[in-house]
Amino acid sequence: MKKIIIKKGRTLSSDFIRQWNEVMLKAFSEKESMNLKKKKEFINDIFFIVNDKKRKILSLGRLRPVKLKFLKKSYDVLGVADIVSIIKRKGHGKILMKELLKYIKSKDKIAIGFCGRKNSLFYKKSGFKIEKNLVKKFIYKNPQGKIIKNTIDEDVLYFEEKNKFMKKILSHPKEKILISIPPW
Ligand SMILES: CC(C)(COP(=O)(O)OP(=O)(O)OC[C@H]1O[C@@H](n2cnc3c(N)ncnc32)[C@H](O)[C@@H]1OP(=O)(O)O)[C@@H](O)C(=O)NCCC(=O)NCCS
Repeated sequence: MKKIIIKKGRTLSSDFIRQWNEVMLKAFSEKESMNLKKKKEFINDIFFIVNDKKRKILSLGRLRPVKLKFLKKSYDVLGVADIVSIIKRKGHGKILMKELLKYIKSKDKIAIGFCGRKNSLFYKKSGFKIEKNLVKKFIYKNPQGKIIKNTIDEDVLYFEEKNKFMKKILSHPKEKILISIPPW
């Protein structure tokens, strides 16, 4: 029996943070893990954890509330981030993504993330849509006013029930999408 835990970042225990860090460092060795000083960055994130019956983590991921601006209109979206399965190809990732989708739908939100090409099929099979050649349109302006482009060649994964936002983006190929924080 699998157990799904959904928690806001501000309620995470030190023990969970330690486990999270271990998983993140293994999966994305270049990525900084979450230390207590950095915890502030994560307090509004929604963490999803799939456990087995012995409370061992099988897969985890998070959603981060992000503000986007497109054609002068603001959008509150959920940024999909840090999706990891401890043991791969056993369906644990799919269970996790099903929970994310359920949450996204219940909040009537648009969800957007970035992924390496090799993982796009996994997201497709988990109910998300994939858009290639879009990542460079996401622009972040840092507090000093410097524009930081996403230079990693990734696919954009997204989910939205009404499919209006992405349609709008795709029908204005020259317009940039401004993001309020660096890619999450
Ligand atoms: C990407 C990742 C989370 C997938 O998790 P997983 O538990 O192995 O995936 P699942 O077993 O639930 O697979 C679900 C489906 O996607 C397919 N799939 C999984 N990974 C795939 C991949 N890399 N390429 C193509 N298909 C893939 C599975 O075959 C399965 O297909 P099916 O439904 O037809 O049987 C996992 O490979 C992982 O942790 N990778 C390292 C971290 C990472 O890169 N995360 C993504 C950051 S963008």
